[in-house]
Amino acid sequence: MTEDKFIPVCEPLYLGNEEKYVSDAVSSRWISSSGSYIKKFEEEFSKYCSTKHGITTTSGTTALHLALRAGGIGKGDEVIIPDFTMAAVLFAVLYCEAKPVFVDAEPDTWNIDATKIEEKITPATKAIMPVHTYGHPVDMDPIMKLAEKYSLFVIEDSAEAHGAEYKNRKCGSMGNIGCFSFYANKIITTGEGGMVVTSDPKLAERSRYYKNLCFPLHGRRDYIHDDLGYNYRMTNVVAALGLAQLENICKFIEKRRNNAKLYNELLKDIPGIQFPVEKEYAKNVYWMYGILINPEKFGMPRDKLMDNLREEGVDTRYFFKPMHNQKVLEKSGISVEGNYPVTECLSANGLYLPSGSGLNTSDIKYICNKLRNISVRA
Ligand SMILES: Cc1ncc(COP(=O)(O)O)c(C=O)c1O
Repeated sequence: MTEDKFIPVCEPLYLGNEEKYVSDAVSSRWISSSGSYIKKFEEEFSKYCSTKHGITTTSGTTALHLALRAGGIGKGDEVIIPDFTMAAVLFAVLYCEAKPVFVDAEPDTWNIDATKIEEKITPATKAIMPVHTYGHPVDMDPIMKLAEKYSLFVIEDSAEAHGAEYKNRKCGSMGNIGCFSFYANKIITTGEGGMVVTSDPKLAERSRYYKNLCFPLHGRRDYIHDDLGYNYRMTNVVAALGLAQLENICKFIEKRRNNAKLYNELLKDIPGIQFPVEKEYAKNVYWMYGILINPEKFGMPRDKLMDNLREEGVDTRYFFKPMHNQKVLEKSGISVEGNYPVTECLSANGLYLPSGSGLNTSDIKYICNKLRNISVRA
Protein backbone atom coordinates (compact mmCIF):
# COMPACT_ATOMS: atom_id res chain seq x y z
CA MET A 1 0.00 0.00 0.00
CA THR A 2 1.28 3.46 -0.87
CA GLU A 3 2.15 5.04 2.44
CA ASP A 4 -0.60 7.18 3.96
CA LYS A 5 -2.37 7.55 0.63
CA PHE A 6 -6.08 6.85 0.78
CA ILE A 7 -8.64 8.36 -1.54
CA PRO A 8 -12.14 7.42 -0.34
CA VAL A 9 -14.98 6.76 -2.75
CA CYS A 10 -16.87 9.71 -1.33
CA GLU A 11 -16.68 12.19 1.52
CA PRO A 12 -19.16 14.90 2.47
CA LEU A 13 -18.10 18.42 1.51
CA TYR A 14 -19.13 21.57 3.39
CA LEU A 15 -18.86 24.80 1.45
CA GLY A 16 -20.97 27.24 3.44
CA ASN A 17 -23.39 27.54 6.32
CA GLU A 18 -23.45 23.93 7.56
CA GLU A 19 -21.99 24.53 11.03
CA LYS A 20 -23.73 27.88 11.44
CA TYR A 21 -27.23 26.55 10.70
CA VAL A 22 -26.78 23.36 12.73
CA SER A 23 -25.52 25.33 15.69
CA ASP A 24 -28.43 27.76 15.31
CA ALA A 25 -30.93 24.88 15.28
CA VAL A 26 -29.35 23.34 18.38
CA SER A 27 -29.34 26.60 20.31
CA SER A 28 -32.92 27.38 19.27
CA ARG A 29 -34.04 24.26 21.22
CA TRP A 30 -36.14 23.24 18.17
CA ILE A 31 -34.32 19.94 17.90
CA SER A 32 -37.18 17.60 17.03
CA SER A 33 -39.26 17.60 13.88
CA SER A 34 -40.80 21.07 14.04
CA GLY A 35 -38.84 24.22 13.36
CA SER A 36 -37.96 26.73 10.72
CA TYR A 37 -35.22 24.66 9.05
CA ILE A 38 -37.60 21.79 8.31
CA LYS A 39 -40.06 24.13 6.66
CA LYS A 40 -37.40 25.99 4.73
CA PHE A 41 -35.56 22.86 3.59
CA GLU A 42 -38.81 21.30 2.36
CA GLU A 43 -39.84 24.50 0.56
CA GLU A 44 -36.47 25.20 -1.01
CA PHE A 45 -35.70 21.63 -2.07
CA SER A 46 -39.12 21.05 -3.62
CA LYS A 47 -38.79 24.38 -5.43
CA TYR A 48 -35.37 23.29 -6.68
CA CYS A 49 -36.99 20.10 -8.02
CA SER A 50 -39.77 22.13 -9.71
CA THR A 51 -42.41 20.48 -7.51
CA LYS A 52 -44.94 22.07 -5.19
CA HIS A 53 -44.49 20.02 -2.02
CA GLY A 54 -41.56 18.52 -0.13
CA ILE A 55 -41.94 16.13 2.80
CA THR A 56 -38.78 15.34 4.73
CA THR A 57 -38.12 11.79 5.94
CA THR A 58 -35.50 9.91 7.91
CA SER A 59 -33.87 8.30 4.85
CA GLY A 60 -34.23 7.54 1.16
CA THR A 61 -35.57 4.12 2.10
CA THR A 62 -38.35 5.57 4.24
CA ALA A 63 -39.10 8.11 1.49
CA LEU A 64 -39.70 5.20 -0.91
CA HIS A 65 -41.91 3.39 1.58
CA LEU A 66 -43.88 6.56 2.24
CA ALA A 67 -44.31 7.22 -1.49
CA LEU A 68 -45.68 3.72 -2.05
CA ARG A 69 -48.06 4.05 0.91
CA ALA A 70 -49.18 7.48 -0.24
CA GLY A 71 -49.86 5.96 -3.66
CA GLY A 72 -52.05 3.29 -2.07
CA ILE A 73 -49.77 0.36 -2.95
CA GLY A 74 -50.53 -2.64 -0.76
CA LYS A 75 -50.73 -6.37 -0.40
CA GLY A 76 -50.70 -8.32 -3.66
CA ASP A 77 -50.05 -5.31 -5.89
CA GLU A 78 -47.22 -5.66 -8.38
CA VAL A 79 -44.58 -2.97 -8.60
CA ILE A 80 -42.13 -2.85 -11.50
CA ILE A 81 -38.58 -2.03 -10.44
CA PRO A 82 -35.16 -2.26 -12.09
CA ASP A 83 -33.22 -5.47 -11.50
CA PHE A 84 -30.03 -3.41 -11.40
CA THR A 85 -30.47 -1.26 -8.33
CA MET A 86 -30.00 -0.91 -4.61
CA ALA A 87 -31.80 -3.11 -2.08
CA ALA A 88 -33.79 -0.22 -0.59
CA VAL A 89 -35.92 -0.17 -3.75
CA LEU A 90 -36.81 -3.83 -3.35
CA PHE A 91 -37.32 -3.52 0.41
CA ALA A 92 -39.74 -0.61 0.11
CA VAL A 93 -41.94 -2.79 -2.09
CA LEU A 94 -41.69 -5.70 0.34
CA TYR A 95 -42.60 -3.44 3.31
CA CYS A 96 -45.95 -2.88 1.56
CA GLU A 97 -46.43 -6.63 1.07
CA ALA A 98 -46.47 -5.90 -2.65
CA LYS A 99 -44.71 -8.04 -5.26
CA PRO A 100 -41.56 -6.73 -6.95
CA VAL A 101 -41.36 -7.41 -10.68
CA PHE A 102 -37.93 -6.96 -12.19
CA VAL A 103 -36.87 -5.45 -15.49
CA ASP A 104 -33.38 -5.72 -16.95
CA ALA A 105 -31.06 -2.73 -17.49
CA GLU A 106 -30.01 -0.80 -20.58
CA PRO A 107 -26.39 -1.65 -21.44
CA ASP A 108 -25.27 1.98 -21.76
CA THR A 109 -27.15 4.06 -19.16
CA TRP A 110 -27.50 1.10 -16.74
CA ASN A 111 -31.06 2.29 -16.04
CA ILE A 112 -34.26 0.25 -16.35
CA ASP A 113 -34.82 -0.71 -19.99
CA ALA A 114 -38.14 0.94 -20.84
CA THR A 115 -38.57 -1.31 -23.91
CA LYS A 116 -38.81 -4.34 -21.61
CA ILE A 117 -41.44 -2.98 -19.22
CA GLU A 118 -44.69 -3.60 -21.10
CA GLU A 119 -44.19 -7.37 -21.28
CA LYS A 120 -44.09 -7.40 -17.45
CA ILE A 121 -47.37 -5.56 -16.94
CA THR A 122 -50.28 -7.69 -15.65
CA PRO A 123 -53.71 -6.81 -14.24
CA ALA A 124 -52.06 -6.73 -10.79
CA THR A 125 -49.47 -4.10 -11.79
CA LYS A 126 -50.06 -0.87 -9.86
CA ALA A 127 -46.80 1.07 -10.04
CA ILE A 128 -43.46 1.57 -11.77
CA MET A 129 -40.42 2.73 -9.84
CA PRO A 130 -37.74 3.97 -12.25
CA VAL A 131 -34.41 4.68 -10.56
CA HIS A 132 -32.07 7.33 -11.99
CA THR A 133 -28.96 5.21 -11.56
CA TYR A 134 -25.63 6.77 -10.55
CA GLY A 135 -26.95 10.19 -11.56
CA HIS A 136 -28.08 9.44 -15.13
CA PRO A 137 -31.80 10.10 -15.77
CA VAL A 138 -34.05 7.32 -16.95
CA ASP A 139 -35.64 7.71 -20.38
CA MET A 140 -38.94 8.83 -18.82
CA ASP A 141 -41.19 9.54 -21.83
CA PRO A 142 -41.82 5.88 -22.72
CA ILE A 143 -42.40 5.10 -19.03
CA MET A 144 -44.94 7.90 -18.62
CA LYS A 145 -46.72 6.70 -21.78
CA LEU A 146 -47.04 3.19 -20.33
CA ALA A 147 -48.19 4.64 -17.02
CA GLU A 148 -50.93 6.52 -18.81
CA LYS A 149 -51.94 3.54 -20.92
CA TYR A 150 -52.24 1.18 -17.93
CA SER A 151 -53.09 3.75 -15.19
CA LEU A 152 -49.96 3.11 -13.20
CA PHE A 153 -48.51 5.14 -10.35
CA VAL A 154 -44.95 6.36 -11.02
CA ILE A 155 -42.43 6.80 -8.23
CA GLU A 156 -39.13 8.23 -9.37
CA ASP A 157 -36.28 7.11 -7.17
CA SER A 158 -33.94 10.08 -7.45
CA ALA A 159 -31.78 9.13 -4.47
CA GLU A 160 -28.70 9.24 -6.70
CA ALA A 161 -29.75 12.02 -9.02
CA HIS A 162 -30.16 15.34 -7.21
CA GLY A 163 -30.41 17.99 -9.90
CA ALA A 164 -30.18 15.57 -12.85
CA GLU A 165 -32.38 16.51 -15.80
CA TYR A 166 -34.37 14.68 -18.46
CA LYS A 167 -35.20 16.93 -21.41
CA ASN A 168 -34.66 19.93 -19.12
CA ARG A 169 -37.00 18.55 -16.46
CA LYS A 170 -35.63 17.78 -13.02
CA CYS A 171 -35.50 14.16 -11.87
CA GLY A 172 -38.16 13.65 -9.23
CA SER A 173 -40.65 15.99 -10.92
CA MET A 174 -41.92 13.82 -13.78
CA GLY A 175 -43.70 10.93 -12.07
CA ASN A 176 -46.50 11.20 -9.51
CA ILE A 177 -43.96 11.42 -6.74
CA GLY A 178 -40.17 11.60 -6.39
CA CYS A 179 -37.91 10.29 -3.64
CA PHE A 180 -34.49 11.45 -2.51
CA SER A 181 -31.82 10.23 -0.11
CA PHE A 182 -29.46 12.55 1.76
CA TYR A 183 -27.12 9.82 3.00
CA ALA A 184 -23.51 10.95 3.52
CA ASN A 185 -22.34 10.02 0.03
CA LYS A 186 -25.18 11.77 -1.79
CA ILE A 187 -24.76 14.99 -3.79
CA ILE A 188 -26.24 16.94 -0.91
CA THR A 189 -26.28 15.24 2.45
CA THR A 190 -27.79 15.45 5.91
CA GLY A 191 -25.86 12.38 7.15
CA GLU A 192 -29.04 10.32 7.13
CA GLY A 193 -32.25 11.68 5.67
CA GLY A 194 -34.58 11.80 2.72
CA MET A 195 -37.43 13.65 1.06
CA VAL A 196 -40.55 12.94 -0.95
CA VAL A 197 -41.49 15.59 -3.52
CA THR A 198 -44.71 15.92 -5.48
CA SER A 199 -46.97 18.50 -7.07
CA ASP A 200 -50.09 16.55 -6.11
CA PRO A 201 -51.57 18.04 -2.92
CA LYS A 202 -53.36 14.78 -2.02
CA LEU A 203 -50.15 12.76 -2.22
CA ALA A 204 -48.40 15.41 -0.16
CA GLU A 205 -51.11 15.23 2.51
CA ARG A 206 -51.02 11.45 2.61
CA SER A 207 -47.23 11.46 2.89
CA ARG A 208 -47.36 13.90 5.81
CA TYR A 209 -50.07 11.80 7.44
CA TYR A 210 -48.25 8.46 7.21
CA LYS A 211 -44.86 9.86 8.16
CA ASN A 212 -46.19 11.15 11.48
CA LEU A 213 -47.88 8.06 12.95
CA CYS A 214 -51.15 8.92 11.17
CA PHE A 215 -51.91 11.70 13.56
CA PRO A 216 -54.75 13.71 12.01
CA LEU A 217 -53.32 16.54 9.92
CA HIS A 218 -56.06 18.97 10.94
CA GLY A 219 -58.03 19.55 14.08
CA ARG A 220 -57.33 18.50 17.63
CA ARG A 221 -54.84 15.73 18.39
CA ASP A 222 -57.06 13.24 20.18
CA TYR A 223 -54.79 10.18 19.99
CA ILE A 224 -57.25 8.28 17.86
CA HIS A 225 -55.48 6.68 14.88
CA ASP A 226 -57.43 5.47 11.85
CA ASP A 227 -54.47 3.94 10.01
CA LEU A 228 -51.11 2.34 10.54
CA GLY A 229 -48.51 5.10 10.51
CA TYR A 230 -44.75 5.47 10.86
CA ASN A 231 -42.32 7.79 12.53
CA TYR A 232 -40.29 8.96 9.54
CA ARG A 233 -39.78 12.50 10.85
CA MET A 234 -36.55 14.34 10.07
CA THR A 235 -35.27 16.62 12.82
CA ASN A 236 -34.80 20.37 12.55
CA VAL A 237 -31.06 19.94 13.26
CA VAL A 238 -30.70 17.57 10.31
CA ALA A 239 -32.75 19.89 8.06
CA ALA A 240 -30.41 22.75 9.01
CA LEU A 241 -27.53 20.77 7.51
CA GLY A 242 -29.63 20.02 4.44
CA LEU A 243 -30.53 23.64 3.85
CA ALA A 244 -26.88 24.69 4.05
CA GLN A 245 -25.94 21.95 1.58
CA LEU A 246 -28.75 22.93 -0.76
CA GLU A 247 -27.37 26.47 -0.98
CA ASN A 248 -24.38 25.03 -2.84
CA ILE A 249 -25.99 22.24 -4.85
CA CYS A 250 -25.03 23.83 -8.18
CA LYS A 251 -21.37 23.86 -7.16
CA PHE A 252 -21.50 20.21 -6.07
CA ILE A 253 -23.05 19.18 -9.37
CA GLU A 254 -20.61 21.21 -11.43
CA LYS A 255 -17.74 19.61 -9.53
CA ARG A 256 -19.04 16.10 -10.16
CA ARG A 257 -19.59 16.80 -13.84
CA ASN A 258 -16.09 18.26 -14.21
CA ASN A 259 -14.59 15.30 -12.38
CA ALA A 260 -16.36 12.92 -14.76
CA LYS A 261 -15.05 14.88 -17.76
CA LEU A 262 -11.51 14.62 -16.42
CA TYR A 263 -11.85 10.88 -15.77
CA ASN A 264 -13.21 10.36 -19.30
CA GLU A 265 -10.30 12.28 -20.78
CA LEU A 266 -7.55 10.62 -18.76
CA LEU A 267 -8.84 7.06 -19.13
CA LYS A 268 -10.12 7.18 -22.71
CA ASP A 269 -7.33 5.23 -24.43
CA ILE A 270 -7.09 2.38 -21.92
CA PRO A 271 -8.51 -0.74 -23.59
CA GLY A 272 -11.33 -2.72 -22.02
CA ILE A 273 -13.14 0.07 -20.16
CA GLN A 274 -16.75 1.13 -20.82
CA PHE A 275 -17.46 4.66 -19.60
CA PRO A 276 -20.60 6.28 -18.24
CA VAL A 277 -22.68 7.99 -20.91
CA GLU A 278 -24.70 11.16 -21.13
CA LYS A 279 -27.57 10.59 -23.56
CA GLU A 280 -28.84 13.47 -25.70
CA TYR A 281 -31.91 13.76 -23.44
CA ALA A 282 -29.89 13.83 -20.23
CA LYS A 283 -27.99 15.99 -17.82
CA ASN A 284 -25.98 13.39 -15.90
CA VAL A 285 -24.88 14.54 -12.42
CA TYR A 286 -22.41 11.62 -12.07
CA TRP A 287 -23.31 10.85 -8.48
CA MET A 288 -20.86 7.99 -8.85
CA TYR A 289 -18.35 7.64 -11.67
CA GLY A 290 -18.85 4.03 -12.69
CA ILE A 291 -16.88 2.00 -15.23
CA LEU A 292 -17.32 -1.47 -16.69
CA ILE A 293 -14.30 -3.71 -17.17
CA ASN A 294 -14.01 -6.12 -20.07
CA PRO A 295 -11.63 -8.63 -18.42
CA GLU A 296 -10.18 -9.98 -21.70
CA LYS A 297 -9.48 -6.58 -23.22
CA PHE A 298 -8.40 -4.94 -19.98
CA GLY A 299 -6.20 -7.88 -19.02
CA MET A 300 -7.66 -8.71 -15.61
CA PRO A 301 -11.05 -9.13 -13.96
CA ARG A 302 -12.80 -6.31 -12.16
CA ASP A 303 -12.11 -7.69 -8.67
CA LYS A 304 -8.37 -7.91 -9.27
CA LEU A 305 -8.34 -4.32 -10.52
CA MET A 306 -10.16 -3.24 -7.34
CA ASP A 307 -7.59 -5.12 -5.18
CA ASN A 308 -4.73 -3.47 -7.06
CA LEU A 309 -6.23 0.00 -6.71
CA ARG A 310 -6.76 -0.61 -3.02
CA GLU A 311 -3.05 -1.41 -2.73
CA GLU A 312 -2.36 2.01 -4.20
CA GLY A 313 -4.67 3.73 -1.73
CA VAL A 314 -7.63 4.13 -4.10
CA ASP A 315 -10.99 3.10 -2.69
CA THR A 316 -13.62 1.66 -5.05
CA ARG A 317 -16.99 -0.10 -4.80
CA TYR A 318 -18.68 -2.92 -6.68
CA PHE A 319 -21.70 -2.16 -8.81
CA PHE A 320 -25.02 -3.37 -7.35
CA LYS A 321 -25.86 -7.05 -7.37
CA PRO A 322 -29.04 -8.14 -9.23
CA MET A 323 -32.24 -7.84 -7.22
CA HIS A 324 -33.67 -11.08 -8.68
CA ASN A 325 -30.93 -13.10 -6.93
CA GLN A 326 -31.45 -11.69 -3.44
CA LYS A 327 -32.06 -14.43 -0.89
CA VAL A 328 -34.68 -12.32 0.86
CA LEU A 329 -37.05 -13.03 -2.04
CA GLU A 330 -37.22 -16.74 -1.36
CA LYS A 331 -37.68 -16.07 2.34
CA SER A 332 -40.54 -13.74 1.42
CA GLY A 333 -42.15 -16.43 -0.74
CA ILE A 334 -41.52 -14.59 -4.00
CA SER A 335 -40.52 -16.56 -7.07
CA VAL A 336 -38.72 -14.86 -9.91
CA GLU A 337 -38.96 -15.60 -13.59
CA GLY A 338 -37.03 -14.36 -16.58
CA ASN A 339 -33.46 -13.59 -17.53
CA TYR A 340 -31.50 -10.48 -16.72
CA PRO A 341 -28.29 -10.73 -18.77
CA VAL A 342 -27.43 -7.02 -18.77
CA THR A 343 -27.76 -6.69 -15.00
CA GLU A 344 -25.68 -9.87 -14.55
CA CYS A 345 -22.95 -8.38 -16.73
CA LEU A 346 -23.02 -5.01 -14.97
CA SER A 347 -22.80 -6.53 -11.53
CA ALA A 348 -19.95 -8.86 -12.53
CA ASN A 349 -17.82 -6.20 -14.22
CA GLY A 350 -18.75 -2.77 -12.85
CA LEU A 351 -17.07 -0.67 -10.22
CA TYR A 352 -17.10 2.92 -9.25
CA LEU A 353 -14.08 5.10 -8.68
CA PRO A 354 -13.77 7.88 -6.09
CA SER A 355 -16.48 10.37 -6.99
CA GLY A 356 -17.00 12.89 -4.17
CA SER A 357 -17.46 16.60 -4.85
CA GLY A 358 -14.32 17.27 -2.79
CA LEU A 359 -11.99 15.33 -5.11
CA ASN A 360 -9.38 17.55 -6.71
CA THR A 361 -7.60 17.35 -10.06
CA SER A 362 -4.46 15.87 -8.55
CA ASP A 363 -6.50 13.08 -6.88
CA ILE A 364 -8.06 12.17 -10.22
CA LYS A 365 -4.72 12.29 -12.02
CA TYR A 366 -3.25 10.04 -9.32
CA ILE A 367 -6.15 7.53 -9.65
CA CYS A 368 -5.95 7.48 -13.45
CA ASN A 369 -2.15 7.04 -13.46
CA LYS A 370 -2.45 4.12 -11.07
CA LEU A 371 -5.23 2.57 -13.15
CA ARG A 372 -3.16 2.98 -16.33
CA ASN A 373 -0.08 1.40 -14.72
CA ILE A 374 -2.16 -1.53 -13.49
CA SER A 375 -3.58 -2.03 -17.01
CA VAL A 376 -0.09 -1.91 -18.59
CA ARG A 377 1.23 -4.50 -16.09
CA ALA A 378 -1.75 -6.80 -16.70
C1 LIG B 1 -31.33 4.20 -5.68
C2 LIG B 1 -31.40 4.29 -4.19
N1 LIG B 1 -32.59 4.27 -3.60
C3 LIG B 1 -32.71 4.35 -2.26
C4 LIG B 1 -31.61 4.46 -1.46
C5 LIG B 1 -31.80 4.47 0.02
O1 LIG B 1 -31.40 5.65 0.62
P1 LIG B 1 -31.01 5.67 2.18
O2 LIG B 1 -29.67 5.04 2.30
O3 LIG B 1 -30.99 7.13 2.50
O4 LIG B 1 -32.05 4.93 2.90
C6 LIG B 1 -30.34 4.50 -2.04
C7 LIG B 1 -29.16 4.65 -1.19
O5 LIG B 1 -28.05 4.79 -1.59
C8 LIG B 1 -30.23 4.40 -3.43
O6 LIG B 1 -29.04 4.41 -4.03
